Amino acid sequence: MDTNAALYGDLERILVTREEIAKAVRELGQKLTKDYAGKEPVLICILKGASVFFTDLIREIDLPLTTEFMSISSYGSSTKSSGVVRILKDLDRDITGRDVLVVEDIVDSGMTLHYLKDVLRTRNAASVSIVTLLDKPARRRVELHVDYSCFNIPDAFVVGYGLDYDEKYRNLPDIGVLHPRIYTK
Ligand code: IMP
Ligand code: MG
Repeated sequence: MDTNAALYGDLERILVTREEIAKAVRELGQKLTKDYAGKEPVLICILKGASVFFTDLIREIDLPLTTEFMSISSYGSSTKSSGVVRILKDLDRDITGRDVLVVEDIVDSGMTLHYLKDVLRTRNAASVSIVTLLDKPARRRVELHVDYSCFNIPDAFVVGYGLDYDEKYRNLPDIGVLHPRIYTK
């Protein structure tokens, strides 16, 4: 591994490499370009985890899209969902009549997006679709339709490419399984 040796030492293993991510993001961008042809979708980045994925993805979409940023809290510094969802930063603009793509880093229990979809529906968007980089289907606690997903992953706590543990590891270019010794002290 060429970079961030200190951070890579905290990983049990690498799960998705930067090359695999880049390929999947490119393919997803091409698919969205086709699926939303003739439309001007608004892509909502769910801060902070989706930020790295989001900035790569929008550059692979050849459409006159607009961007919004939203911050929601469902996790403290632990690795389990609290079930508590709060909007910390809301959208800047009205989404009435817009085709909305909610861009997330990972769907775990599904509670965050389940709640968010309900909120966005009340704002009269023309459509609301879910885009995620990672999906952990084994952990789902509520029914949620995920429209676009790059990778299904096993039930393990992962970090990198925007995903954090206690706000750290977001700057890892690859996605890895965090060594349990980091969070079972
Ligand atoms: P959900 O509401 O349980 O689906 O949780 C979704 C959010 O939990 C994601 O946006 C992440 O911020 C966080 N999360 C879930 N699993 C992981 C993980 O393996 N690593 C880092 N963050 C995670
Ligand atoms: Mg997070």
